[in-house]
Amino acid sequence: MDEDLRSRHTKDGIRIYDPADFAGMKAAGALAARILDDVAELVFVGQTTGAIDDAITKMVEEAGATSATIGYKGYKHASCISVNHVVCHGIPGDKRLKDGDILNIDVTVIVDGWFGDTSRMYVAGKLPRKAERLIQVTHDALMIGIDAVKPGKTFGDIGHAIQSFVESHRMSVVRDFCGHGLGRVFHAPPNVLHYGRPGTGATLEEGMFFTIEPMVNLGRPETKTLADDWTAVTRDKSLSAQFEHSIGVTADGAEIFTLSPGGLFHPTYSVG
Ligand code: MF3
Ligand code: CO
Ligand code: CO
Repeated sequence: MDEDLRSRHTKDGIRIYDPADFAGMKAAGALAARILDDVAELVFVGQTTGAIDDAITKMVEEAGATSATIGYKGYKHASCISVNHVVCHGIPGDKRLKDGDILNIDVTVIVDGWFGDTSRMYVAGKLPRKAERLIQVTHDALMIGIDAVKPGKTFGDIGHAIQSFVESHRMSVVRDFCGHGLGRVFHAPPNVLHYGRPGTGATLEEGMFFTIEPMVNLGRPETKTLADDWTAVTRDKSLSAQFEHSIGVTADGAEIFTLSPGGLFHPTYSVG
């Protein structure tokens, strides 16, 4: 029988995966994270985001994997690269990075049918103080969200943990984009909101796979999408940052599938 027919879903339509499925997600997540490690040395002043994306395309091919984004809803690139006030879905191109630019690089790969989706922040040249604060708060917001993952808690608990932390630093959580279930598909239920009220939303169960990927703005939370139909920017032009992990719910917490093999996920590392 087709395994999708055999598979279990909650009443909210969230798929519950088997213990054996964690290994598939770990392999896919590890490749996506390794690519983000290897990309770090390609981020420098004068570099184009298109050249970074070309390198990512090659890395995915050389690993014998597939890019989940090339051909996805007409998207043509192996990564999204979102610079400064771009919130997400920045399209790689021939624009050159300037000193002090901050950028999110988001990669999703498919390995043996499993999806690994992760993003993190990079800087070209010297990191401005305001950007450093934003990046630190966004990173910590993701990790605080992951800390809230446990069977019996709810998705609202995750959103609330992230939102209250971010707002305590006088920054704002983007509402227009969210995390998502994934596994053998790229985007599945539920929508993982990065804001919310404790105890609301679906209840977490062991075997759920999803991303948490908060976008945090220094200014107001509103976004707009540019005429290319992809690039989302802050309406007030304020700086925006994002970090993303793919995780699985375990008996007592979360397993992070997209941990950096080189310990490079955290923004304070330095390269070169
Ligand atoms: N990786 C993104 C996410 O976190 C989705 C990118 S879709 C693309 O869900 F088509 F823009 F690449
Ligand atoms: Co995602
Ligand atoms: Co992503």
